Amino acid sequence: MAKLNVNGKDREFDAAPDTPLLWVLREQLNLTGTKYGCGIAQCGACTVHIDGNAVRSCAMPLRAVKASQTVVTIEGLSRNGTHPVQRAWQALDVPQCGFCQSGMIMAVSALLKTNPKPSDADIDAAVTNICRCGTYNRVRAAIHTAARGGGTRKAELAIQHPEGSAT
Ligand code: FES
Ligand code: FES
Repeated sequence: MAKLNVNGKDREFDAAPDTPLLWVLREQLNLTGTKYGCGIAQCGACTVHIDGNAVRSCAMPLRAVKASQTVVTIEGLSRNGTHPVQRAWQALDVPQCGFCQSGMIMAVSALLKTNPKPSDADIDAAVTNICRCGTYNRVRAAIHTAARGGGTRKAELAIQHPEGSAT
């Protein structure tokens, strides 16, 4: 029997030690908000927090996660989607299809914990998640909104596209 602390609860389940954490979360613990994209640590769809750090769970074998560590998934990030990053995401309507977005939000929330006011260069370096819908401009705007406190004033909601038009 394996043990993990996930979203504040100690959980016990059967899984082989080389099982990727992603599959433990999805299949054993039924936490399906964390998504499978590439399976080779490239896309970030599977991002969760381990001890507060963003980790790509598809490439993290169960044996590498200690029972004393804390795992947080999108389901455990906040009550009712009220984390500042989630509020900024809602305010700016960031998702398109949504598939990459839980991983994106987990990567961003980890970044803001260590760097509460990231520059665009900081964001580019830390958030390398792939979005096939191309939400990158909106993701960046929402990160800055969350960094300002998750505000929803109209000026904060305007997205400045590279060519200068605003929506
Ligand atoms: S599914 Fe883990 S990085 Fe793509
Ligand atoms: S919102 Fe569709 S892949 Fe990112």
